[in-house]
Amino acid sequence: MPQRRLIPITCSDILFEYKLSGKGIYLARYARIIGWGKYLPQKVLTNQELERLVNTSDAWIMSRTGIRERRIAADDETASSMAVHAARAALKVAGLEPHCLDLVIAATCTPELIFPACAALIQNSLGAKNAAAFDINAACSGFIYALATACQFIAAGAYNNILVVGSEVYSRILNWKNRNTCVLFGDGAGAVVIQASDAPPGSLSFVLGNDGSRANSIYTPGPCGLNKGPYYITMNGPEVFKFAVNVICLATKQAVKAAGLELSDIELLIPHQANTRILKSAAKAIGLPLEKVFINVDRYGNTSAASIPIALCEAIEEGRLKEHDHLVLVGFGGGLSWAAMVIEWGPRPKKL
Ligand SMILES: CC(C)(COP(=O)(O)OP(=O)(O)OC[C@H]1O[C@@H](n2cnc3c(N)ncnc32)[C@H](O)[C@@H]1OP(=O)(O)O)[C@@H](O)C(=O)NCCC(=O)NCCS
Repeated sequence: MPQRRLIPITCSDILFEYKLSGKGIYLARYARIIGWGKYLPQKVLTNQELERLVNTSDAWIMSRTGIRERRIAADDETASSMAVHAARAALKVAGLEPHCLDLVIAATCTPELIFPACAALIQNSLGAKNAAAFDINAACSGFIYALATACQFIAAGAYNNILVVGSEVYSRILNWKNRNTCVLFGDGAGAVVIQASDAPPGSLSFVLGNDGSRANSIYTPGPCGLNKGPYYITMNGPEVFKFAVNVICLATKQAVKAAGLELSDIELLIPHQANTRILKSAAKAIGLPLEKVFINVDRYGNTSAASIPIALCEAIEEGRLKEHDHLVLVGFGGGLSWAAMVIEWGPRPKKL
């Protein structure tokens, strides 16, 4: 197995006011995405419908966020049930039976139970009886945190086939009378199956970070805390906006450098989908043309940990990725957390 390379990031990488802690890590045994799937609930909630709920307008929402509509889970849908739909689609693309999975990791902050984990329910519904299962909560950065965690099990030689899902039902933690938050979020799920490979293509590098001193910039209280509820999202929008633009830029640059690449080598950036203005500002700050940035927030709003796998799935379905393209996934959100991963796109490995 090749030696692990640790590439330290120097102070000259710190271009803005936010400093990133941690190192860019170069991965030595590769994780290749061999399956992908998504699930969006049927119910569409348009900006026009929101105009009837709160004092807002389609024009305001479109101009400030780029969101036109979002999906809302049915009463009988949960994070695990939506994740199972996305996971089944991903397994089908991968051509893998559920019993071949070694591990199921679910990224979510809206699980239906405090315990057991959402991943445990997904494992059972799929019949993935040989898989370990656990959840990761890193808010909207959760999917990349989960993917980077999965890559560690592969890099260590522990596991070969891992299901990573992001699934959220934010509609259940929104105050539908608060226009500051209820227009921004939506429900959905996305999943990937990753498989070990001793050679690229596959995951090349990642960056994970968190600034817990700013945990109160965006949070949702829970039933085990001191707050007696109701348990709604609270957010300082402008502060999160500024953080997001800076951190997308910095984390992307760190991950690209750790992969031994230049920004010009990147064919597609798939950022967490929160707001078109954030993504346009970040693309400008990075120096990437907007055509290289995948955006679908207009149709789904912010689906938190589900947004990146849903966007990845759509990018693949739209033919935006070809063999050996370099792709960056980048997320940000509650924590305040951030995460980025560089992947060389490629076909399923011939043998393990
Ligand atoms: C929330 C957000 C869209 C607000 O946009 P903004 O350009 O900062 O808003 P502005 O400061 O220009 O305007 C705020 C005003 O709009 C009002 N407003 C807020 N939501 C509104 C809505 N849905 N409809 C109409 N007006 C609204 C506010 O009450 C405020 O009014 P006031 O000035 O009279 O107090 C923006 O800050 C944002 O997207 N932040 C990031 C949020 C995010 O992505 N969170 C998740 C991260 S994972």
